[in-house]
Amino acid sequence: MKKLILAGIFVAGAAIGLALAVSGPAAQQAEPYTMTSFGPWNAAVAKTHVPMVKFEKTNMGFKVTVQVDNHPMDPQKPHWIEWIRIDDAKGNRLAEKAFKPTDPSPAVAEFELPAIYDSLKVLEHCNIHGTWLNEAAVGLK
Ligand SMILES: [Fe+2]
Repeated sequence: MKKLILAGIFVAGAAIGLALAVSGPAAQQAEPYTMTSFGPWNAAVAKTHVPMVKFEKTNMGFKVTVQVDNHPMDPQKPHWIEWIRIDDAKGNRLAEKAFKPTDPSPAVAEFELPAIYDSLKVLEHCNIHGTWLNEAAVGLK
């Protein structure tokens, strides 16, 4: 009887763990969060997750520098930026950089792109807070 109860507790615990893993905020995310639409999070979380974008003209086109300010790269918790990605306005992937939790903070990625884009979807993904978007108009200096 004792074994049966323990087995029941184990099964119930596994079911709860699975339910939590599947239903976490990031798992339910249908669209990337933004500065004004941040799902279960708040404006303070949005400020540390929406990627900052800078454009610089180059001989080949332009350089995009993406930085996620004031966000940890913490292998202990763990809590870190898993990747930074650039999509075109239609959502086609143009470039991506993956990070390890041991990489330095802030997470920064630089990409060189041809000067054929008016706007880009700049995304980053945090292992806890999900995917965040900055739709950036390409402004060249
Ligand atoms: Fe985060």
